[in-house]
Formats: sequence, structure tokens, C-alpha cells
Amino acid sequence: MLDKALEYAHQNQGQFLSQLKEFLAIPTISTLDENKPDMQRGAEWVAAQLRSLQMDNVQIMPTGGHPVVFAEWLGAGKSAPTVMIYGHYDVQPVDPIELWTNDPFTATMNGEYLYARGASDMKGQMVASLKAIEAIRKAGDLPVNIKWLLEGEEEIGSEHLEEFVKNHKEALACDVCLNPDAGMIAPDKPTVTTGLRGLAYFELRVYGPSKDLHSGLFGGTIHNPAQALIELIAGMHDKNGKITLPGFYDKVRKLSKKERADFARLPIGNKELIAMTGVPALWGEPQFIPAERVGARPTLEVNGLLSGFTGQGSKTVLPAWAMAKISCRLVPDQDPQEVVKQMKKYLKEHAPKTIKWELVNLHNADSALVDTDSIGVKAISKALESVWGRKPYFKREGGSIGVVAPLQRHLGAESVLSGFGLPDDNVHSPNERLHLPTWYKGIDAFIHFFYNF
Ligand code: BES
Ligand code: MN
Repeated sequence: MLDKALEYAHQNQGQFLSQLKEFLAIPTISTLDENKPDMQRGAEWVAAQLRSLQMDNVQIMPTGGHPVVFAEWLGAGKSAPTVMIYGHYDVQPVDPIELWTNDPFTATMNGEYLYARGASDMKGQMVASLKAIEAIRKAGDLPVNIKWLLEGEEEIGSEHLEEFVKNHKEALACDVCLNPDAGMIAPDKPTVTTGLRGLAYFELRVYGPSKDLHSGLFGGTIHNPAQALIELIAGMHDKNGKITLPGFYDKVRKLSKKERADFARLPIGNKELIAMTGVPALWGEPQFIPAERVGARPTLEVNGLLSGFTGQGSKTVLPAWAMAKISCRLVPDQDPQEVVKQMKKYLKEHAPKTIKWELVNLHNADSALVDTDSIGVKAISKALESVWGRKPYFKREGGSIGVVAPLQRHLGAESVLSGFGLPDDNVHSPNERLHLPTWYKGIDAFIHFFYNF
């Protein structure tokens, strides 16, 4: 059976690729209102795939936001385990569009890579799971029961998914969840992700005069909102790179000696990070190595800044307002809601009387650690070893996936975080890409994974 499924997958790589390209052509940008019809089309594309796999009960289910696609196949019977497969069909915005070398929604091959928004994060990973199931179905019956939970709001914090999980506990009941929304350290280094950071996302607006002013007539008498905003932001870190929001580190779990030894063994060096990002030097808490700073330390990042005149040439203006998008990556046991309060407290204590401010909490996500002894982690480790010929690395990641903690909380379900994206896939950046040789190996690994139960 295994051999037959693998053979089917190898013979149909071309067809798998063309279907992935079709999926990538739908601009499912969840954060933009203008793409709402595309979100529906994306959900329909996914549902059609599930129907062609002869899954039962395929449904596009409404939420307070973008729909969830659900399906199941329970033909393996009550004594067999039930594996949920999670995915998200939404993607991040494409700007700055001028830095793309191809249209982001016209998937384009170059060497071993396929370039498109969502190729790596995570339409490629979702199609890998769909095609693994297709291959197994062609070879015979599935060895496990399957449930699909495919959402459209992951890139905006999975805002309505926790409610959805709570309201559909019975339909979603499962033994383990395969979540391919995480990646590998390198093409020759299969990886199981063992933790994710959480997130608290803010928009901070600072208001000064009621309209833009002549900076000569008023400069020196009015606190410039752009200046006030960056003064506030600058104060959010001290000179050692520590975050100054009151109480921010109170709940941060300390790393054990064993955890620190595990981090130190990961093949992630300063040089590689510098080469991958193009920075002149790294930054951050000196008492932690980069892998720890990404995997187990919280951060506060400015994601965007907007104020005043930024067009061609010059304009001597004192802007009426300034805005920043700011997000904190969180680690166990920080609670995003508490971080929202800490941010408000910081602003109350530090905002000057010369401006007005407003804070909007856009969305949050909980951090998560997964049980590395779960049946799912055992099955994926063995699968990765079968395909790559070596044991996987275990790594705590710095990204966030909103669904993982709610699945633990409401269903008691552990996630298996393993996908085939690479650190240089340009996810959330221009020219996002997918390494196809790794993707094809990933499909094989998923086929092994299901037979390993
Ligand atoms: N696939 C990523 C998360 C990820 C990145 C996991 C790297 C492991 C390694 C996911 O699609 C993502 O980007 N999530 C957002 C969620 C946020 C908006 C709540 C993120 O992390 O920024
Ligand atoms: Mn993703």
C-alpha cells in the first residue's frame, strides 16, 4: 500500500504542481476588504478538492469572519485514530509590489523554485497534505480517520477560530492534529516544530493639531505627533534591548538547562542569519543566542510607521497625526490580554500632555508548546527519517499559529507541527517561493506519516 501510494505521488508530480498553481492564482488576502470575494473563491477551491478526494460532509461554514472549510472521512472505524489536518487558505498582502519579479498571483518557475504569494506559507503545504491523502486513497483505504479544518483567518490572528472550535467540539474531536504551517531549518534538515510564540498586535495613533500646519509658523510651539510617536516607541526598549512595558517579563517562563542545551545544538548560526537577511550585524539580548531569542524570548516590533509628507521632493509641514503598527511576540506563560493592559499602562504613564493617543488591539494569538511524546510527533519523526534518512531536529519557532493553543484547550488535541517551507522562502516578503524538490519529499513524508499510525 505504502509503495503504491508513493508511486502514485511520484507519477503525478506534474499534476500536483499545476493544481497548486491554480490555487495560488486566487488572491486570498484575508486582511483586505477588497479581497473578500476571493476569500470565498479560495474556500470553494479547497472544498472542491476535498469533494474530489471523496471526503464526506464537505462544508463551507460561516464564521464571524472568513469561512472555515470542513470535511471528514471516518471509514477507518472507531478503533482507528482520528487525525485532524489543519491548514489556512489565506495569505499575507503583497506590498511592496514593485519588488516582485513576477505577478504574485501568477505562479512562476525559476530553477527549483516556484514563486508566488502563499507558495510556501501555506498553500504549498496545504496542497502537500491534500495530495498525500489523494495518493493514499488511490492505493487503497486510509489507515486513519480524517477531519479537515481549513481556515481563512490565520494571517489575521485566527480571530473567529477559537469560537468555532468551542461550538463544534464534537465534529472536531480528534486524537491529534497535523499542522503543516511550519517549516524546516534547511532542505537537508527535516524539522519538527515544538513551540510557537504568541502575538499581541496594536495600532497606535498619535494626534496633534487638528490639521497639518506650516512648520515655520508653528514649529517650536507644537509637539510634532511624529516625534511624539517615535519618542514613545523609542522608550519601549531600554538600552540593553529589554522591553519596558510594566510587568512584561513577569510571566516569561525561564529556560531550563536542558532547554538551553537543546537550543545550543541547533545548526543555526549568526553568520547564516546575517547572510540570509543582509544586515550588517545582529541585534538583541546578548545573554541569549539567536535561536533562543527567536524561539523563547518575547519581542516588541514596529511593523509600520506612517506620518506627514513622504512624496517626492519636500514639504515643510508639521503633521496632524502619526500612526504605528506595533506587535509583541509572546512566549509561555505570557497572556496576550495582559500585554494589552501593559501597553495601555505604559502609554498612560509616558504619553505627554501635548498630544492625544489612541490604541487599537487588532488581534492576538496564544503561544504554544507541543507534547513531543504524542503519537503524532512519533509518526512524523519516523516519516521524516524514512524520507530524509536522518532524524529530525526539534525546534521552537518564533512565528505564531492561532489554532494550536485552542485545540489543546478545548479538544485536548496536540498538534504535530511539521511542514516543508524553508527559512529563505521569503514568506510575508516580496518574491515568496517554494523549493519544489523539498515539497515533493514533503508529500512523501506525509504519506509515510499516515501509514505510521
Ligand atoms: N506559517 C506562519 C507561522 C510560522 C512561521 C510558523 C514560521 C513557524 C515558522 C503563519 O502563517 C504566520 O505567519 N502567522 C502569523 C500569525 C499572526 C498574524 C497571528 C505570524 O506569525 O505573523
Ligand atoms: Mn502560514
